[in-house]
Amino acid sequence: MTSYDVEAVRRDFPILQQLVHDQPLVYLDSAATTQKPRVVIDALSQYYLQDNSNVHRAAHALADRATTGFENARKRIAQFINSPKPEQIIWTRGTTESINLVAASYGRVALQPGDKILVSTLEHHSNIVPWQLIAAERGATVIPIPLDNRGDLDLDAYAALLDERVKIVAVNQVSNALGTVNPIKSIVQSAHAVGAKVLVDGAQAIAHFPVDVQDLNCDFYAFSGHKAFGPTGIGVLWGRESLLEQMPPYQGGGEMIESVSFSGTTFNQLPYKFEAGTPDIAGAIGMAAAIEYLGNLDRAAVQAHEAALLAECIERGEEMGLRRVASPRHAAGIYSFLLPGAHPSDVGTILDQQGVAVRTGHHCAQPLMAYLGVPGTVRASLSIYNNHEDIDRFFNAMAKVKKFLL
Ligand code: ALA
Repeated sequence: MTSYDVEAVRRDFPILQQLVHDQPLVYLDSAATTQKPRVVIDALSQYYLQDNSNVHRAAHALADRATTGFENARKRIAQFINSPKPEQIIWTRGTTESINLVAASYGRVALQPGDKILVSTLEHHSNIVPWQLIAAERGATVIPIPLDNRGDLDLDAYAALLDERVKIVAVNQVSNALGTVNPIKSIVQSAHAVGAKVLVDGAQAIAHFPVDVQDLNCDFYAFSGHKAFGPTGIGVLWGRESLLEQMPPYQGGGEMIESVSFSGTTFNQLPYKFEAGTPDIAGAIGMAAAIEYLGNLDRAAVQAHEAALLAECIERGEEMGLRRVASPRHAAGIYSFLLPGAHPSDVGTILDQQGVAVRTGHHCAQPLMAYLGVPGTVRASLSIYNNHEDIDRFFNAMAKVKKFLL
């Protein structure tokens, strides 16, 4: 194990200090949503207790404070992912809305009949369905990039699929169902060689390791607050400025206009062109507080800690006869498995009775489950606050599950 002080981190998360079904809570569902440190909860209360107002509009002190907090949050996120400018950070409701924005807006200007969109077989439905919708509208097709036998992307097959009709490649950086970490830089390089743009779904990556959009050289990067210790209902789309400038607005309303008349409307500059309606101001401030908290941790130590916990899960799972559904060469934070002879949802229910929270089912990745030939999996997902005792309790609980179900 590393010198990472996981107990100090655990103390920052009030929700972890509770019993569930009379047992200490073992929270292994952070891929669904992470828990929130007290600093995030405090930032939200502070905002509503003292600063609540609408942004960019009124001429009063509270509006000034709300606007400053909201725009400082944007700057903080920009810095965290190394965006050249804060204007390239667009607030959305989360990763799903970010991807829908790009599909609907960029898809509309970039796609012609006969064009292709490549998505990986590892994708969450959120990075498949928006592309199917715009493909149907534009006469384009969505083509899956296959996997190899370990659950990594088949990069040779990917290279063979690339040609000048491919306009968009959409891939996650970390798979929510398997934890596979995709080689984004090389995926981007190959896509750019045929003139395609790359959208990265970073929902599962952002909490696990540092992300630098300039280093990745991707064209769009989408992520959510709630999977990185922030509130639900807030997320980010980062985009390359030249592309965001070309793209039409996604929704119409307040904030996104420059002037409106019945003879024609002109649109606001970036990022406001894409931010119709009153935004989630508290959410943005809470998300920035979460990013601040995460940024203050030793990220290399966090990664080493999580890798050690995952290695322990893999080893103990093998000893127990659990079937890991894929074994990607590089994985982050996720142990996805089956207990042979038992249904995943029964396993999940009996784990819950022992205070262990996991997710079971298809994980919003039905094409991946079909590809793997499984109905679903049991997914234990790890985060900065999980400790060795959690893994111990999880496997002790699994021993009882085995006795009960087999
Ligand atoms: N996308 C989230 C998950 O994988 C909800 O659980």
